[in-house]
Amino acid sequence: MTDIAGKKIILGITGGVAAYKAAECVRRLGDYGIDVHVVMTQAACGFITPATLQALSGNPVHTDMWDTRIPNAMAHIELSRDKAAIVIAPATANFMAKLAHGQADDLLSTLCLARECALLVAPAMNRQMWEHPATRRNVAQLQQDDVAVLGPASGDQACGETGNGRMLEAQEIADAVAAFLAPKTLAGVRVLMTAGPTFEPIDAVRGITNRSSGKMGYAIARAAIGAGAKVTLVSGPSSQPLPAGAVVTQVQSAADMFEAVKRHARQADVFIGVAAVADYRVDKPHEHKIKKTEKAQLTLKLVPNPDILGWVAAQPKAPFTVGFAAESQHLETYADEKRRRKKVDMIVANLAQNAIGADDNEVMLLDDGGTHKLERAPKEAVARDIVAHLARLYRTRNPSPSR
Ligand code: CTP
Repeated sequence: MTDIAGKKIILGITGGVAAYKAAECVRRLGDYGIDVHVVMTQAACGFITPATLQALSGNPVHTDMWDTRIPNAMAHIELSRDKAAIVIAPATANFMAKLAHGQADDLLSTLCLARECALLVAPAMNRQMWEHPATRRNVAQLQQDDVAVLGPASGDQACGETGNGRMLEAQEIADAVAAFLAPKTLAGVRVLMTAGPTFEPIDAVRGITNRSSGKMGYAIARAAIGAGAKVTLVSGPSSQPLPAGAVVTQVQSAADMFEAVKRHARQADVFIGVAAVADYRVDKPHEHKIKKTEKAQLTLKLVPNPDILGWVAAQPKAPFTVGFAAESQHLETYADEKRRRKKVDMIVANLAQNAIGADDNEVMLLDDGGTHKLERAPKEAVARDIVAHLARLYRTRNPSPSR
């Protein structure tokens, strides 16, 4: 269970075409264990039905100020009192204008005005509406009032135009909300990490790589950012969306990854090696594409790559180091041997056959205190548990926010 699981939020849906994405938002927030309570404006009900949202969230949906299901008939106050945040997705230009001016003429806007918790909005509107000076003023006012504005993104719009104003995707909204709700256990801590596979060139067009997707590493980057860390991510080739808020250096080979890590290592408080780094590279890759010949065999000479994690852990003022061990058998024994050999503070061990490319993962964490097994869960949830555990160990050794 993550630290955000069980937290309650209100998901406010206002009347825009992007309301259809709100259904997916409920599901993705649910993946984090967040308990979602939906409140809809009348206009939102024109785009998506309360019954759909009720079925997906498992909670009654509220649309009306005069809802008699609330014992004291004060829905506009009571509904937000036990909530960690109100998230408006989609937030129309009109609704943001109402928020900016403190108007309260329906259940959702009244809840926002009467709230004690945080407010996050995910704008969704036509690009001209987003760029209109009135909307710019309203957004600036909301930010000044400590309202978190998520997005919007740029791209194709329902009206057929292209530009700024598209609502973020459901997963991006769920990730941002989860990051917002996460305890700030790594506030101000500088985390350097590697993720993804490496690509070791053979010639101008071919290379040796592996099936690591980067999902686990990127999820850990997002979890660390959510915990308040400043994350520098050195990533091998990955098709995953880059974690918002991380400083990212994209590399290809293990040698490039090593150079990038060496540049940043001295400023790091924590180093996490998640990358599936190739143990060997091709000695002297060909500058041009190798042509086939009549020879029966072609031999590639491989030479060892530097051990990036081992190098970081061996530095005189080494950061708190976390390594990964992907084994196919004898998981705990092999992983613990790796932890001692590489002299790292913590090892995250998983079965390679269960983890590579998958959306969920089952890991065990090994440190001086012993072995801690985590349940199989989506990689985002596992990432939060890993970050929570490393933050506890790191804080035990470094009680101050940063070295
Ligand atoms: N690692 C690294 N640089 C390398 C190789 C691995 O930083 N050249 C890091 C990985 O990011 C991971 C850990 O070391 O954190 C994995 O350790 P390693 O012993 O390389 O694992 P395997 O390659 O699985 O080793 P073995 O073949 O011995 O199981």
